[in-house]
This record gives sequence, C-alpha cells and structure tokens, in this order.
Amino acid sequence: MTLLNLQPLLLKSGHVIDPATGLDSVTDILVKKGRISLIAPDITPEEGEEVIDAGGKYVVPGLIDCHVHLRDFGECQRETIASGTRAAVMGGFTTVICEPNTKPPLDSPERLEALREKVEREALCRVYAKAAMTRGREGEALTDFKALKGHPLVVALSEDGNPIVEEQLMREACRQAANHQLPLSLHCEDSGFSLSKICRDRPSGLSSDRSKDLSLRLGFGPREPFHNEPGFIARDLRLAQETEASVHISHVSLAESIQIIEEAKKDGKGPALHPCGAGRITCEVTPHHLFLDEASRGPHGLPFTVNPPLRKKEDCTVLQKAIKGGTIDAIASDHAPHREEDKRAGAPGLIGLETTLGVVLTRLVHPGIISLKEAVRLMSNNPARIFGLGGGSLAVGSPADITVIDMEREWIVEGKRFQSLARNCPFEGWRLKGQAVLTMVGGRVVMREGVIKGFKRLRV
Ligand code: DOR
Repeated sequence: MTLLNLQPLLLKSGHVIDPATGLDSVTDILVKKGRISLIAPDITPEEGEEVIDAGGKYVVPGLIDCHVHLRDFGECQRETIASGTRAAVMGGFTTVICEPNTKPPLDSPERLEALREKVEREALCRVYAKAAMTRGREGEALTDFKALKGHPLVVALSEDGNPIVEEQLMREACRQAANHQLPLSLHCEDSGFSLSKICRDRPSGLSSDRSKDLSLRLGFGPREPFHNEPGFIARDLRLAQETEASVHISHVSLAESIQIIEEAKKDGKGPALHPCGAGRITCEVTPHHLFLDEASRGPHGLPFTVNPPLRKKEDCTVLQKAIKGGTIDAIASDHAPHREEDKRAGAPGLIGLETTLGVVLTRLVHPGIISLKEAVRLMSNNPARIFGLGGGSLAVGSPADITVIDMEREWIVEGKRFQSLARNCPFEGWRLKGQAVLTMVGGRVVMREGVIKGFKRLRV
C-alpha cells in the first residue's frame, strides 16, 4: 500500500473510545506522518493541517476482520485484492486477514510473495494472511512453518474449511506451531473433504452414515452431518494444551462448542490462563451465525448455504450470551464471495465486510447487549492481540488506523451498492442503524462518507 499525500490531520471533537488505552471521552486526535501524534482536548490546528470535524461521531481504533476470503489469484471473477479491500474500508475495516484457500493455496513463501506484490499494488487497507497448515491444503503433509513464519504477511496458519483429521498430524502441527510461535486458526467443521479423508471406504457425499462414521472413528460419538464441530474443538483444545500451542477457533456455531470452549478457558491448568499470550485459546463468531438460523431464508425463499451451516435458534441465543459473557474473543465476517451461478450450484459462503459493523451495532450495541467499547474490543483490539498485529489501539505513536462511526445513521443493506464483486449477502434488505463514515489507514483517509478515495463510487 502506498501512502501518498500524508498531510497532517486533526480529527476534532469526536467521542474517542479505545479499550486498549481506556480512552472514553470527547477529545481531538492529531495525526502526523501516518501515526497518532497527540490526543488532547481542544488542539489548535496549525497551518497545513487538514481539520476533520468528528463532532457527534465515535472515533475508534481501525476495525480488523480476522477471517476474510480475497479470492485472488485464480478466482478474480469472485473477488480481488482491490474489490475486497474497497469493501473492507467501506465497512470501516482498516485491516483484513485473509484465508489460504485461494487457487492455488497460500502454502509456500513464494505464493505469499506473489500475494504481497498484489497487495502492495492494489490494497486500500492492510492485508495479512493465514498460510495453509498442509501442502496444497491436502491434509497430508505439513507446510514449512518456519519458512512461512518468516514471511511478513503471515500471522497464523489455517486449513480453511477443513479440520486436520488425523490426530497425529494435528499434534505435530500444534507442536511446530508452538515452537515457531504461530497461532493456529482452526476450522473445526466436518466438511465433505474431512469425511473423504477418514471414510475412504464409503461412497462420497455428506450422508448421515458417513458423518456418523467420521465421528465414531474419531471417538466423538455418533453425529449428524456437520455436527462434529464440538468433537474437533475438544480434540484440538486437548492437543493445544498438551503442546502449549495457541489456537483460535474460527466461526463457532453450536451451543455445545461454546460449552467446551468455556470449560477450557476456565481450566486454570491450561493455556486459557493467558487469553492473549502464548498458549492461548481464543474464538470468533460471525454475524450470520449470531443472527440467522436454519429457518432463515434469502431471496426466492431459499435457505442460506454456508459452512458451518446456520444452526437452531437456541444455538444463536447461546452465541449471543457468549458474546455478552466474554467467552467470544472476536467477531469476524468470514467474507466468502461467490458469483450467483456458483451459489445456484450450491457453493457455501456469505459475504459480510460491508455489513458486519452495521449488524453488530444494530443487533448488539443499540439494544444494550454489549457496549460500543465491547464491540470495538471484539472487532479491533482483540483481533490485533490474537494475531500479533501492530494495530488495535489509538495509543500515541501507533499507526493512525482509525474508524469514525455515526451511531445514529440509518441505512438499508442493498447489495447492488456493494464494493465487493459478490452479492451473496444474507442481510440484504435489513434496516441497520450505525455505519462507518470515515476509514483512515496509516494516516490516509481511504473512505469518507461512502466515497472511496480514487474510486469515487457513492454509497447512498
Ligand atoms: O461457507 C464457507 N465458505 N465456509 C468456508 O469455510 C469457506 C468459504 C469459502 O471459501 O467460500
């Protein structure tokens, strides 16, 4: 990302909320050379400084989405670095962490280098990556964790979409991840792929018989398709505790999984003692698993296809309680762009970069389930700590990654206005209250009032 025209900026009279520093008051922020240089009330503007009136708005550390699919390289018809990061800054995100299930997958430093070149040319916000845990995401041989750790984009490892089925391989992955101090971002879902790994002797598909086979062979007890999530979580937390690896559980979707994570976090002997240090256990939830259930329907009355699938209302209630109770560490969109024809053919995934903040403000903050400060912790401060990023704070000297939020702005979700190339958004038509009105990355305003610098497309 090139940071041109770094004029000093003075953000005036915003209500600054920063869980990292404890700031919660109306004050000014001076930004110089891409960093936060002073926070104080009534700073007098000097010549050459651009003054931005943030009166009546909330000013928070730039939001971080720690689970995003940016389809580049081989699937640019679904999303690109340019379109995905435009969507990100429109939604108030200053940083995204992308998953390795690109085509080809992010499983070597060379692939990551190719990604970095694209990011430097096209990205509007900061982009980090999770590298694949196994070569080709085949679930057979581990990638070179040491070499991957050395790449500047890599902040974690993930198999995206699949658990590692073989326990011995997973144990070795945890051991090496702990050695190289790389967090593992785990997908504990029983995908068709994970079934095919263990049920080679059964016909393919996601049948009830195959799912039960998988769960019985792994010792999880008999399970319906897509209900092995708690089994994989329990196994992986056990292996993480054994090896002192840091693990972050992606898109938790079942009430039973929350129970397991809560127990693990309570266990004073294990890594949960250090929620954001070495050997930690953290987890995330998506807006769609929080607020949509198996009965929710999209356009033309069709159910939403996503992996893990939408669950029962009771599961949503437990996830919402876990947000309030502090078991969940992050909210992430799992932005998964697909074309209409791919969706019609059953491709799983939903987009969320442009709606996550609005949904969180409307459904969690305005009704008083959590405070705005808590929401910022879940969407900025915690993801930064979990993945060891520099952002997530407005401390003086930090990079000036800042999101300005209008809590009162009401808007309707309309996919046709998205910056993302995709339209597979489950919140189409929702009436939301609260929106990002300015996104600043490294001291440069990249989105203001729905206009992206350099792209001039208006969001109404
Ligand atoms: O629904 C999903 N779609 N879940 C995943 O884990 C992967 C994602 C995708 O890449 O489309």
